[in-house]
Amino acid sequence: MDLSYFQKSADFLKARAPFVPEIALVLGSCLGPFGEEIENPVVIDYREIPNFLLSTVSSHAGKLIFGTVRGKRVVCMSGRFHFYEGYDFEQLVIPMRVMKLLGVRAVILTNAAGAVNTAYRPGDVMIIADHIKLSGHSPLRGANAADFGPRFPDVSRTYPPELRRIALEQGESSGLTVREGVYMFFPGPQFETPAEIRAARILGADAVGMSTVTESITAAHCGLPVLAISVITNMAAGVLDRPLSGEEVDETVERMAGPFSAYMKAVVAAI
Ligand code: HPA
Repeated sequence: MDLSYFQKSADFLKARAPFVPEIALVLGSCLGPFGEEIENPVVIDYREIPNFLLSTVSSHAGKLIFGTVRGKRVVCMSGRFHFYEGYDFEQLVIPMRVMKLLGVRAVILTNAAGAVNTAYRPGDVMIIADHIKLSGHSPLRGANAADFGPRFPDVSRTYPPELRRIALEQGESSGLTVREGVYMFFPGPQFETPAEIRAARILGADAVGMSTVTESITAAHCGLPVLAISVITNMAAGVLDRPLSGEEVDETVERMAGPFSAYMKAVVAAI
């Protein structure tokens, strides 16, 4: 996939978009309802976009929404793509490269995650300071797309401290417990084993999840600053003496939808 592949999606969207967006937001399962609060929305179904991907997860809508949030021009991905759905890492570069071509200056990624750090609680918010991805390939594997970035990109400043500081500051007045921590990627779709979670803790992870890092790496490659934020939906496997369930995750997602949306609006307005 070279520049022209991504340009085809971007050209289609530019013809439909009401403006050049400043910020791209990826709404994880924790932030679905946020999409409904975007003002002056122009909604485009993923199925209409040439060379794009399709969401297969029921909680992910599969729509791109252009609109404003407190006066900021945003483009929102309501529905993201995961490795566990069957996409290859190499395909997962598509959304961020299209966002880059649309002209955004920053990306906000959100997700639901399990707490490895035993001081965390479901309902806490974690700003991702760094990530660990030891499994699988890189989204940048294969011929380098030199129009976007270098063969061997630095990823040590993927999550710039200036953006994290803004998100932390907004946390102070949000009524939420907002922390900063390390996110570890697991490919899923099964939740992790207790032994994997103990290993993750030893390695320095505070939370685990099945998304986000492919997007972060792709954004870092093309020079887009990333703010990534997790909602802690559950204590990770083995922390509590009971099995994990998707329902437990969904319950926290539902409880946090309102407060997390309000917090994210304040964050978008501040960056
Ligand atoms: N593990 C992986 N992904 C998750 C979890 C978890 O415990 N909770 C929400 N997404």
